[in-house]
Amino acid sequence: GSGVRSYHERVVDHYNNPRNVGSFDKNDPSVGTGLVGAPACGDVMKLQVKVDEQTGKVVDACFKTFGCGSAIASSSVASEWIKGRSVEEVMSIKNSDIAKHLSLPPVKLHCSMLAEDAIKAAVKDYEAKKAKRNESIELTE
Ligand code: FES
Ligand code: FES
Repeated sequence: GSGVRSYHERVVDHYNNPRNVGSFDKNDPSVGTGLVGAPACGDVMKLQVKVDEQTGKVVDACFKTFGCGSAIASSSVASEWIKGRSVEEVMSIKNSDIAKHLSLPPVKLHCSMLAEDAIKAAVKDYEAKKAKRNESIELTE
């Protein structure tokens, strides 16, 4: 190494080639949308999950992040990690795991926090939509 403290290559990789950039139709019943912002810097992250109601597994994920390189890299990693996992597993992903994976410096920890918050918000949105649907099914029965 040159001795210069620079971003970890994984950050650069995920920043240059972010995985799963895009969006799903937020009105799709299988989709949960999490939209979160970091008050400290004003960066915004939108992360969406597509859940198979039968298996309770996240079958697809995508994101759009208007933010710094670490926030983009964090959301890219998050989108990779949540695919194929159950909703419960996804809820236990910690920002510290993402930060560790990307070797984020302390000042960039809030960027990975954004990813954890976005995952949780997306799953909660999915569950709220599901609960609402079940409620209206009960009412019409
Ligand atoms: Fe992509 Fe680890 S480098 S998830
Ligand atoms: Fe705020 Fe990265 S500097 S999300």
